[in-house]
Amino acid sequence: MIEPTTTARPQAPAAVFDWLDEAAELRARAGLTRTLRSRPAEDPVLDLASNDYLGLTRHPAVTGAAAAAARRWGGGSTGSRLVTGTTALHTELEAELADFCGVEAALVFSSGYTANLAALTALTDPDTLIVSDAYNHASLIDGCRLARAQVLRAPHADPAAVGEALAARAEPRALVVSDSVFSVDGNAAPLRGLSAAARRSGAALLVDDAHGLGVLGEGGRGALAAAGLAGEPDVVATATLSKSLGSQGGAVLGPERVIRHLVESARTFIFDTGLAPAAVGAALGALRLLRAEPQRAHRAREVARTLAARLGAAGLEASTPDAAVVSVLAPTPESAVRWAADCRAAGLAVGCFRPPSVPDGISRLRLTARADLTEAQIAHAVEVLARTAPRV
Ligand SMILES: Cc1ncc(COP(=O)(O)O)c(C=O)c1O
Repeated sequence: MIEPTTTARPQAPAAVFDWLDEAAELRARAGLTRTLRSRPAEDPVLDLASNDYLGLTRHPAVTGAAAAAARRWGGGSTGSRLVTGTTALHTELEAELADFCGVEAALVFSSGYTANLAALTALTDPDTLIVSDAYNHASLIDGCRLARAQVLRAPHADPAAVGEALAARAEPRALVVSDSVFSVDGNAAPLRGLSAAARRSGAALLVDDAHGLGVLGEGGRGALAAAGLAGEPDVVATATLSKSLGSQGGAVLGPERVIRHLVESARTFIFDTGLAPAAVGAALGALRLLRAEPQRAHRAREVARTLAARLGAAGLEASTPDAAVVSVLAPTPESAVRWAADCRAAGLAVGCFRPPSVPDGISRLRLTARADLTEAQIAHAVEVLARTAPRV
């Protein structure tokens, strides 16, 4: 029913959102204020803050494929994947991703976030125990919250603890969930140990390979390939197209019957508009480039090791990188923010991670070891980070 415009409405209470200002004040006092900054197209600052691990997002083969896809298929996909949102390009990308990663099938989502929500909610039920690594990405945590399953938070990177939790469970089904590379520190999960623990107990393994695809495994085929688990019938991976592949979107990779089940039941697949053609085209362009130039994956890992070693030699507490992420510890959230700002002023963009984005509560700077960094850029980054480091 349409309400008559003459209906008298009570006056809006001015204080209804006052509590938001109080919450902002508390965040400010804890040094946790977050602000948006738009970057210019031609940023003179050296970028170690993005997730463009292979330096592909502005590669002409990638941007050209995006533009061609938009011209041919349109600015948007026009609907849900099950209605009008699947183009021949989506199907092509799914086939090529599956082939590249060595799995039976792949399904493309509008983001890595929605891919994780889909896998966690569709592959579990109230008779499932999810055993989730304590340091997992927020999208996996949210997937656990949405799933109607029992959830157990397991100690970080601890296959023995996972095995014990699985053995002690009452639920008939179980799913072990882990990032392949943890996004804050860049350390790799013990995937073979997790897989063995899951298998002993008849559980499935779900791996979020957001930071592994394009970096780990032969030619960047991802963490499952690196661990010898690609194509296994009890293993499923999720990935994002927004990091190494320089585009946007996400994917679930695994056995054919898992993918079929997601198509028919995953809410973030069914009730979401399909990925835009330009993003599909860009991801396909990047994937084909990676196939043609597999050394890019190796180079990203090499740059990470070089960066970490030189930062350590300069007296900074750098992580030991397993992929293309290096983190450097900061004494407090405030000093981390100041350090990142000083780096920017000196021409270097770095990521700044503070609570609640850091599972252990320790603030750090996060550096992306891009495959296209030159020796001079690596030296510049190390010099700036050492010179601007907080004095403890
Ligand atoms: C580990 C991990 N999983 C999932 C995502 C979400 O992917 P997307 O940005 O494509 O939604 C991210 C980051 O963005 C991530 O770091």
